[in-house]
Amino acid sequence: MLGRLNGHPDNGDDFDITATVSWHALAAHQQHVYSLHLRELFAMDPERGSSLVVDVADLHIDYSKHLITAETIELLASLAREAGLEEKRDAMYAGAHINTTEDRAALHTALRLPRDADLVVDGQDVVADVHEVLDAMGDFSERVRDGSWVGHTGRPITDVVNIGIGGSDLGPAMAYQALRHDRHERISCHFVSNIDPSNLVSVLDHCDPATTLFIVASKTFTTLETITNAVSARRWLVGAFDGDASAVAKHFVAVSTNADEVEKFGIDTANMFGFWSWVGGRYSLDAAIGLSLMIAIGRRRFDEFLDGFHLVDEHFRTAPLERNAPALLGLIGLWYSNFWGAQTKAVMPYADDLARFPAYLQQLTMESNGKSVTTTGRQVTSPTGTIYWGEPGTNGQHAFYQLLHQGTWLIPADFIGFAIPTDDRETVDGGSMHDVLMSNFFAQTEVLAFGKTAEDIAAEGVPPALVPHKVMPGNRPSTTILAPQITPSVLGQLIALYEHETFVKAMIWGINPFDQWGVELGKDKASALLGVVSQADSPAPQPDSSTDALVRWYRSHRGR
Ligand code: F6P
Repeated sequence: MLGRLNGHPDNGDDFDITATVSWHALAAHQQHVYSLHLRELFAMDPERGSSLVVDVADLHIDYSKHLITAETIELLASLAREAGLEEKRDAMYAGAHINTTEDRAALHTALRLPRDADLVVDGQDVVADVHEVLDAMGDFSERVRDGSWVGHTGRPITDVVNIGIGGSDLGPAMAYQALRHDRHERISCHFVSNIDPSNLVSVLDHCDPATTLFIVASKTFTTLETITNAVSARRWLVGAFDGDASAVAKHFVAVSTNADEVEKFGIDTANMFGFWSWVGGRYSLDAAIGLSLMIAIGRRRFDEFLDGFHLVDEHFRTAPLERNAPALLGLIGLWYSNFWGAQTKAVMPYADDLARFPAYLQQLTMESNGKSVTTTGRQVTSPTGTIYWGEPGTNGQHAFYQLLHQGTWLIPADFIGFAIPTDDRETVDGGSMHDVLMSNFFAQTEVLAFGKTAEDIAAEGVPPALVPHKVMPGNRPSTTILAPQITPSVLGQLIALYEHETFVKAMIWGINPFDQWGVELGKDKASALLGVVSQADSPAPQPDSSTDALVRWYRSHRGR
């Protein structure tokens, strides 16, 4: 049954967030804030830099460089209350079927509950289920790590290849890179996702079949890319053992919710690590999809990772909206999307090990909130979704920051930095390279916010014709997120922060962030077109002249 809404008890089918009192008040208030510059906001309140700050676990979050006043926060919190955000949040934590189009709970918060927590959903002891799988993953990971799980020829595993895509790839790949310093010395992990065979081939070129373990990671175990790559990897492995298919048992394990398909593929379900329909693909890194990460960093560190998520979950569940970090980030993001016309948000980790974090966030946020109908099936009445993008600092500075500083778009940005470096080296004059990195980090948010006026530039003796080119308008908003160091716990905290930020926006827009129907049609079309592009005989024309001509061009270059 499709539930009526994932919403506020008072929200009827006709509830329209843009028709609320708070929405109208925010629209009027924007006219006022629009006339203020961050220079003035800081001049008016000398404490601003220390008061518009929230500390959550290890995260120190400064949101003072936003185009907001105390009234903005009050109005945004009222909007959230009118939308029933707190009730919706509580419903999510309690396991209500808030994913209405799939009639499921969205219970990723249960994946990081401590062993002694209580949560029974649909008659099932969810906490016991979660910890049973974690324990099985822990035993298996330990055996791989200590060398007692051996390959077909009796040698310990040196390479783990995770085959999965989307949420079954981006999370573990991102976290494996982020936690580089916590990895096991003997074992390297690799991630194969793309149906482009170059992905698999380039990984297998570096692997020895005798010491390689494949993790086939797929919630559904029907995803074309994953199954195709897994079949190809199995062929490679069995071929290397002269067709002896018994090798598969020691070299293939599965992570899935679909035991039938795992068995059909030929993996013993004893070597399968399960999860549940209530874990969305993009929320599954902390479920069994994190198996490759657990092998890399060990059970203890993986537990710390989960604890990090849980700290932020508890904060989001209990802190008042006005002091609630995910709520503030979500509401401020919505402020820009809906009242200032911002379409994108940049995320700049000043840490090379977080290079894949923006890509991870793209799936989390854009697959979740890329929706244009509400949970009741009505067309939305305001823009939804936000385009997330970013690159590690300082690379971005030498590529696209020019547009951030002097371009015409409003692009709110999150800057993420760390006090204690993962690695450090001396600069030419004996200083710390990490300090250089962080001085850039602080400089960028300062310059974005405050810029440099024409008067200041002219006073430096710059020729008048050049002054307008050198003016730095400033007034460009950013959030600064600082943490002591990249640790498993801090990474879990950061992910949970963005998960809940995404949820906050979705609940106010009235959309379902937990389904992804928009990816289905493309999959169907691709399978229909496969016959057309590959068949030997001339195919029937395609319904549109562009696709028809493109397919013909491709076929002729393939000699068909
Ligand atoms: O096509 C989108 C999607 O369903 C994502 O939501 C998901 O993370 C990905 O495909 C992979 O799905 P699966 O884990 O079932 O292979």
